[in-house]
Amino acid sequence: MSLAFFTRTKTGEIQSRIASDIGSLQGTVTNTISSLVSGVTTVLATVSAMFFLDWRLTCVSLVMLPMLVWVSRRVGRTRRKFSGQRQEQLADMSSTLQESLSVSGFLLGRTLGRSQVLTDEFSAQSNRLVDLMVKSAMAGRWRAWTVQVVLSAMPVAVYWVAGFTSRHGVFLSIGTLVAFTTLQQTLVGPAMSLLQLSISVQSDLALFARVLEYLDLPIDVAEPAEPQPLPHPRGDVTFEGVCFSYEGTAAPTLRDINLSIPAGSSLAVIGETGSGKTTLGYLIPRLYDVDDGRVTIDGIDVRDLSFDTLTDVVGVVSQESYLIHATIADNLRLAKPDATDDELVEVTKAAQIHHRITALPEGYETLVGERGYRFSGGERQRLAIARTMLRNPPVLILDEATSALDTQTEAAVQAALDQLVQGRTTITIAHRLSTIRHADEIIVLKDGTIAERGSHAELLALDGEYTAMLARTEQQQAGAAAA
Ligand SMILES: Nc1ncnc2c1ncn2[C@@H]1O[C@H](COP(=O)(O)OP(=O)(O)OP(=O)(O)O)[C@@H](O)[C@H]1O
Ligand SMILES: [Mg+2]
Repeated sequence: MSLAFFTRTKTGEIQSRIASDIGSLQGTVTNTISSLVSGVTTVLATVSAMFFLDWRLTCVSLVMLPMLVWVSRRVGRTRRKFSGQRQEQLADMSSTLQESLSVSGFLLGRTLGRSQVLTDEFSAQSNRLVDLMVKSAMAGRWRAWTVQVVLSAMPVAVYWVAGFTSRHGVFLSIGTLVAFTTLQQTLVGPAMSLLQLSISVQSDLALFARVLEYLDLPIDVAEPAEPQPLPHPRGDVTFEGVCFSYEGTAAPTLRDINLSIPAGSSLAVIGETGSGKTTLGYLIPRLYDVDDGRVTIDGIDVRDLSFDTLTDVVGVVSQESYLIHATIADNLRLAKPDATDDELVEVTKAAQIHHRITALPEGYETLVGERGYRFSGGERQRLAIARTMLRNPPVLILDEATSALDTQTEAAVQAALDQLVQGRTTITIAHRLSTIRHADEIIVLKDGTIAERGSHAELLALDGEYTAMLARTEQQQAGAAAA
């Protein structure tokens, strides 16, 4: 699925469908065939034997059949409704757990004083779940019971019919009668288990529906069937008349963007928050598809490249560096599983983080903790930079962190970035104007369009938006210095 899917779907919901829905289906899937075969065989054999003994009494016994079918339909339908609701409730619960029992969730809960609210919410959800489970288990209990009682009482009907007919001259030996009712009693067990089976299959249809709903989702960013090869990527990037809007937003996020970033050159993108800078960066590794126009790498539309090629060519250091719960070395090797220890040291040295890692008691084997919370923002960012260096992509997208780093960390991160960008096509999304003076081209995004473009000197000469932004930054710096 695309990034759009993950931005609108709760992680807990996905987890629940994979773990709980599929898990619940397991019982039915594994039991159905064996129960079906054994049940049907017993029923068929017994009914044939009964027919052989006396076909008239058999017809009397089979009057039950429509009732069985009716009951299984009714109960199955009710159970299906409840099992659908139960799985929804489970998904809600796992979303709540997943959202609140993580580092960010804990911080949010604790700092906003929501512990009690969350606890209450969890209790309420658990109670609703218990309620649904009980309802679902009890649904149709009475009907199934009635069926069982009627089935068990069938000999009464048989004795009655036999007695009644013998008075009218159709005689049945006691032996046959006993053999017949004995056969009939062996039917009760398999008939009940077939009834249960049909009820559970029907209620599991709700789970199948939930799983299939995901499997049937259209893939909005699909890999091309016949991707174009790009054996020696140079890293020319162009935007040709690109328009893009997020689903459900009225105004387009990007409008008529034309850019040409030759291999090895640098583009800096600046603009107010929400002007579409990150979005522009998303379009190159094809995290979203353009609505109009095209984005190309070395003249090939990104929609014609395989995902493997795209990930090899485009490297992204994003606003938020994500580390997985593993050791530092493992996190670095995400980018290149076969990287040697020497390679790791080389990139961490370039990213100015090697000395911090070796200062740790366990060095490269230190666990980074959930989402890397063991490290500071600046350290995490430098680890992400080192990771990207390992991949060595010809095109690089740097989305600067908005969080203000202290001057020393900022200098370290900047030094790491300077190492990283050498010889690559670089698109820097900048918040700190000080870092982009030397970019080959600077564009100022405003409301999704390019308001100004040119080099630092050209934009200064223009005396427009860029100059105003620069003046504001200098004013702030002067203010900070004075304070
Ligand atoms: N998944 C999304 N669905 C709908 N709208 C979105 C989505 N992501 C971003 N937007 C909207 O698109 C606009 C551009 O967002 P974008 O993240 O590109 O801004 P930005 O220029 O990077 O801002 P910042 O400087 O704060 O990082 C914003 O108005 C934002 O609200
Ligand atoms: Mg952004």
